[in-house]
Amino acid sequence: MTAEYAGMAAPPGSAVASPGAGPLARYPRVRLVLEPTPLHPAPRLSRELGVPVLLKRDDLAGVGLGGNKLRGLEYLIADALGRGCDCLVTGAGPLSNWTMLAALACLRHQIEPHIVCYGSSAADEGNMRLHRWLGVDLRFTGDPDRSSVDAGIEAVTAELRAAGSRPYPIPRGGATPLGALGYVRASVELATQLDALGERPAALWLATGSCGTQAGLVAGAALTAAPYEVAGVTVSRPVADSRERVRVLAAGAAALGGIRAPLREPVVLGGWIGPGYGAASREGRAAARLVATMEGVFLDPVFGAKAMAALIAECRAGRVRGTQVFLVSGGAPTLFTGADGGVP
Ligand SMILES: Cc1ncc(COP(=O)(O)O)c(C=O)c1O
Repeated sequence: MTAEYAGMAAPPGSAVASPGAGPLARYPRVRLVLEPTPLHPAPRLSRELGVPVLLKRDDLAGVGLGGNKLRGLEYLIADALGRGCDCLVTGAGPLSNWTMLAALACLRHQIEPHIVCYGSSAADEGNMRLHRWLGVDLRFTGDPDRSSVDAGIEAVTAELRAAGSRPYPIPRGGATPLGALGYVRASVELATQLDALGERPAALWLATGSCGTQAGLVAGAALTAAPYEVAGVTVSRPVADSRERVRVLAAGAAALGGIRAPLREPVVLGGWIGPGYGAASREGRAAARLVATMEGVFLDPVFGAKAMAALIAECRAGRVRGTQVFLVSGGAPTLFTGADGGVP
């Protein structure tokens, strides 16, 4: 891989400086998230599971249909602008929340988005439909392998450079140390909310894919001396891979953020992928239905539903004590796709 991923070691700049919390203040940030996103009790779910559960609603973040990826994009878009980039190249699968939100954030800041998807075509549904509706430049790698996106991003970046543009490439999922600062910042926001509620939760649960979100939360937990363990539930990669990626990205984010407190060993739970990444699981569907009927909150089938299935199972097995925070990370467009089909 020769494409230089801007943001891996971005110097603090002043392009669109927007003060953040503590040591993050020196990193420019565009404002995307309507913060703080709500943190609220889930009373019926708490009774059902036998422990207090709080929902952190990053699905209500305020751009598009919301989602965790907006937090990292605040730093990545600011970095692109600071470097004078006029277009951005990234990629993932055809139903990706990441590419949808990256494209929207780009358009809002007058950067041209270019999106690379694995495979050769995609049904006109969910996020794919939204990409097309926006008229975003979409390329398919022609290869069903997810990793084909990496070479695709590199090729499109080279093509744009050759045409005289100034592209800003970002790897799949936006998982870079700079992007992970989004959830370092979110950890400060969460700490303030927990203080106001007088809560000291034992764990913070989330779905883990490309690992940037969990990495930011691990670094953020160190920064805020959080009482909770960050429990990621992998929805795509093997547990050992996820742990290693979280560890490396969290260390990178901590270095950028000047966080000197020791980082905890990442906790990643496996066994919840079901039929595969991007496809609904039976347990996830049941978990999502429980949360929708008890709390009126929709969890997406690819990420949130599977993470909630893990939390429910751990509670029912009696392995969970104390207050649990669950990050509702978005993904609503996938509720309207075949990804949720075929699972009773
Ligand atoms: C809705 C949703 N939740 C959770 C995740 C996982 O985040 P990460 O890729 O940072 O691990 C994603 C990633 O795309 C997502 O779209």
